[in-house]
Amino acid sequence: MKAFIKFFLLAAVAATVFSSCQNNSRSGYGELDDWAKQIVSAKRASMGYPVNQNIQLDRFYKWYLANNLENVGLNNVGDPFGAAGGLLGAHKFEREVIEYFAPLYDYDLGNLWGIVTNSGTDGNNHGIYFGVNYLKNLTGKMPVMYVSDEAHYSNPRIADLQNLDLCLVKSDPMGRMIPEELEKVLDTTRPCLIVYAMGSTFKGAIDDMDALNAVLDAHPEMAVYRHVDAALFGGYLAFTQYRDMVSAKKYRINSMAISGHKFFGLDDPAGFFLTTREVYDLQDNNAVAYLNGDMKMINCSRSTSSVLKFWWMIHEIGKDEWAKQAVAILENTRYFKEQLDSIGYPSWLNEYSNTLFFKRPSDKVCKKYMLAHNYDENFGGDLSHLVVMQHVDHALIDEFIKDIQE
Ligand SMILES: Cc1ncc(COP(=O)(O)O)c(C=O)c1O
Repeated sequence: MKAFIKFFLLAAVAATVFSSCQNNSRSGYGELDDWAKQIVSAKRASMGYPVNQNIQLDRFYKWYLANNLENVGLNNVGDPFGAAGGLLGAHKFEREVIEYFAPLYDYDLGNLWGIVTNSGTDGNNHGIYFGVNYLKNLTGKMPVMYVSDEAHYSNPRIADLQNLDLCLVKSDPMGRMIPEELEKVLDTTRPCLIVYAMGSTFKGAIDDMDALNAVLDAHPEMAVYRHVDAALFGGYLAFTQYRDMVSAKKYRINSMAISGHKFFGLDDPAGFFLTTREVYDLQDNNAVAYLNGDMKMINCSRSTSSVLKFWWMIHEIGKDEWAKQAVAILENTRYFKEQLDSIGYPSWLNEYSNTLFFKRPSDKVCKKYMLAHNYDENFGGDLSHLVVMQHVDHALIDEFIKDIQE
């Protein structure tokens, strides 16, 4: 009888464990499970940050698990264009990702170098570091770095980290660097490392690269390196009729940083960095014996799963679908602006931008839509902004308009 009870109890425990394993959404850690539920339900209305919430990675994760890759230590350490080849990672796929994107930004495959980065910030870090070394090795002098006071904070932060002489150039009220201000502060006795904002973070302004290049061209004796921070706008503009805006050739752009988790819909921070062979060849040598290669990039370990996700998306989503999404984003942004105008709500929008900024609404609205804030006296003080990404459709916009009226 005792043996029977013991058997019965064991069977009951096994059944409980089995059923909790069957219910994969339960980890057994209550607070973790609660967080997961909350974050999944909040994503629908999230608009304050440039995150595409229409992520399509279901099949990727099924494939990943089916191949047991979750139990493999992957690492894309090393140069994807180097001879050494990656042992623990997927350099071949990384190269294919870079070679897929590069022509969209007018980089020639014969004159190309790039990596999949950890983020847009990581791409800016590489652009600025590569720019410094390029100019230093070209001229023997350290450059001055110029960036607008509305550009993403990562740029001045990186200047600080790299111990650079930084000049923050004033921007106009809509957020574009003012060419006359650049002219005023330009130190023509030193090389110029300029970072153009292609989508300033809060106001979505694109620096007028034609006008700013004209300022620089007036000083032909000064060596110039142009890095473009196109973290968000670089994603969608490349697929629109405004593709020229991201042309490395047209604007003589030496390097560009684009995020992967913004327009492209990776579910984790990632991005890519593009530059030319001329820039790469002027970097300091950095032979690393244990990696059997010349490590020009800043980071040692880099993510393989981001590379695989990019590669997957290129094949599963591709140019035609991204073009449709890019057009929809800009159309929905226009629709959003029209709706705000129709109720007389003060809002502002830059050309080519999916980032609307407006008078700060009630805390309730700010919270529901996870809006991001700023303060600017040019526009009456307290402001919020929202970013129209793939998941922001007419229904959500109409809901927002209703909420803001209430
Ligand atoms: C213009 C711009 N540059 C850089 C970044 C930083 O990119 P990441 O978050 O990928 O590091 C952002 C982030 O929002 C941005 O808007």
